[in-house]
Amino acid sequence: MTEVKINVIFVDDEPKVLDGIRRMLRPMRHEWTMHFANSGQEALNQLESAEFDVIVSDMRMPGMSGSELLNIVQEKYPHMVRIALSGQAEKEQILRAVGSVHQYLSKPCDPERLKSSLVRSCALRNLFKSEEVKSVVSLIKILPSMPDLYTRLIDELSLPDAQIKNVARIISQDVAMSAKVMQLVNSAFFGMPRHVSSPDEAVRLLGLDIIQSLVLTVHVFGQYEGENIYGHPISELLDHSLKVSGCAKLIAKKEKLGSKFMDDVTIAGLLHDLGKLIIASNMKEHGADIKQLLNQDGMNTTDAERQVLGTSHAEIGGYLLGLWGFPDSVVEAIVFHHEPNVMLHDELTILTVLHVANALVVKAMDNGQNVHYGELDMSYMSTLGLEDKIEAWQPICDEVINQEAG
Ligand SMILES: [Fe+2]
Ligand SMILES: [Fe+2]
Repeated sequence: MTEVKINVIFVDDEPKVLDGIRRMLRPMRHEWTMHFANSGQEALNQLESAEFDVIVSDMRMPGMSGSELLNIVQEKYPHMVRIALSGQAEKEQILRAVGSVHQYLSKPCDPERLKSSLVRSCALRNLFKSEEVKSVVSLIKILPSMPDLYTRLIDELSLPDAQIKNVARIISQDVAMSAKVMQLVNSAFFGMPRHVSSPDEAVRLLGLDIIQSLVLTVHVFGQYEGENIYGHPISELLDHSLKVSGCAKLIAKKEKLGSKFMDDVTIAGLLHDLGKLIIASNMKEHGADIKQLLNQDGMNTTDAERQVLGTSHAEIGGYLLGLWGFPDSVVEAIVFHHEPNVMLHDELTILTVLHVANALVVKAMDNGQNVHYGELDMSYMSTLGLEDKIEAWQPICDEVINQEAG
């Protein structure tokens, strides 16, 4: 990925706060160009004179408030990452800006948190600017368009009183689609407690987000049917994706990470290797070169893809899902699922679970030859203090992996 210097602007009416940030982030000055403004108006003036990537704004300021400022920024510069800095007493302000803010940081701001949240936003932003990714995406002839059904689902889901029965009806109307969705739901990897017999029941049991992603999975894999992924049939990749998704969900469940986390990680698992489909089906010659590097030179997939394309399936897939409006945390997990160390998280995230689930599934499919967990980044796991978890997570994954596809 070409490194692009990131332009960040910090806005706060208190000079002391800005000075603190300036000092704290000095070590990052080679990667970021940092600008500072004392008021919303001054920030807007600066935004007119140069192109910026990220804005970090205080919420409570005299004159133009932080939420007003971020709303304007969202309108005028929709590509920018918007981060709000706020004190405890500013809940109302935050609520007013809720649609225009990507991330919140509380004041007083912990330097490591600020740094890592900027690094994270910038890494994704860099990807969207990367010429390699853009040029690969521009080569795609059959861009997997959003299926019509999916668009209708989104319309329904955006209604304040979205109804399960309407969603189920929309899915049922597309007979081929609903048959395939039901097939995935009932595959053993999905871990449903009993046979699910109707779309209505599936929606009820799995929830709207998961159903939406299943529809997308069926659509994308269906569009590339018969393709071959670096020498493997596409059905193998679907099988792999379902297993990773199933393992990831059960790990999240075991760690009691909550239902939203479980849903997101299930979705990330289903779609994490989407980029492979895109490369294999749209760039056949490149695909053949990559296959050769994998088979003859024993390179790992990401390295081989980088050598041939300058980017990887993880980045291409993440890029597309980002364009399609998937949440940042899911996009981030997909982009970095083979190199989680690039992200400076200090806690267990969707990325962590996806990375481990993918590695454990790959290892199991390797017939146990790769005893050192090859794909698993142990130094990343120990940075998070999670190296001991693997032992507990392994049997969970084995159970999923050893299921017969139903
Ligand atoms: Fe992958
Ligand atoms: Fe994978």
